[in-house]
Amino acid sequence: MPRPTLLLIHGFPQDHRLWAPQVQALADVADIIAPDLRGFGDGKGVPTVMSMDDYASDLKALLDERKVERVVLCGLSMGGYVALAFLARWPERVQALILCNTRSNADTEEGRQARLETARNAFDKGVPVIARGMVPKVLSGKTQRERPELVASVEAMMAQQSPDAVAAASRGMAERVDRTPMLGSIDVPVLIITGAHDELMPLATSTAMHAAIPHSRLVVLPGAAHLSNMEAPELFNQAVRDLLQELTQGTLA
Ligand code: MLT
Repeated sequence: MPRPTLLLIHGFPQDHRLWAPQVQALADVADIIAPDLRGFGDGKGVPTVMSMDDYASDLKALLDERKVERVVLCGLSMGGYVALAFLARWPERVQALILCNTRSNADTEEGRQARLETARNAFDKGVPVIARGMVPKVLSGKTQRERPELVASVEAMMAQQSPDAVAAASRGMAERVDRTPMLGSIDVPVLIITGAHDELMPLATSTAMHAAIPHSRLVVLPGAAHLSNMEAPELFNQAVRDLLQELTQGTLA
């Protein structure tokens, strides 16, 4: 099989810099595309609500523009919601799927209300306040103790996002649909990666997806929480590399 293209989809409220530990490290096994979802990074062109379908449509347009036929889709957290939205609409464009620290279900009513509050807070309190509150939720205790420079750069990346982008994504996540019913009919190889200490996406959400998706494998990274690709980059990259190499060698469907 030809060399795969790996499309990396960041989470909330992040941008392409999330994938710094992957972009160079995996360049020998795949062509890598790591875009900013609309409004993240440059803060431009964001409507009031960005649904997961809207982000997926932007990615489809990007692939069309670059004439990339099929990709290995890799999304972390909100990026995973976007990856499932993409797969639901354009399954023929997906060669394999990597779902990191994410889930298939929709929000509860309480969860939806919290999203709308986050959208309001982005303007009223400011994104840096949201970013500061998120740091202890997205990084494990071990990461926070041992890697102060990573903690600072993650907080800075989140704090730099525009209130418009943060609010639009929050509203979009609030209205996302439950993708659980599609899991049983996914017929591409799926790698599920999570952190052993992810409290935002507890391990049970990943084991449930693993049980529901026929051609799936689950990798749980010790010492990592929600940003597992940054917290345990070697193990994360090894899991992705294994999948990409098996795809290239044709030992996977
Ligand atoms: C993310 O990391 O993208 C968010 O935690 C996702 C979410 O809030 O559901």
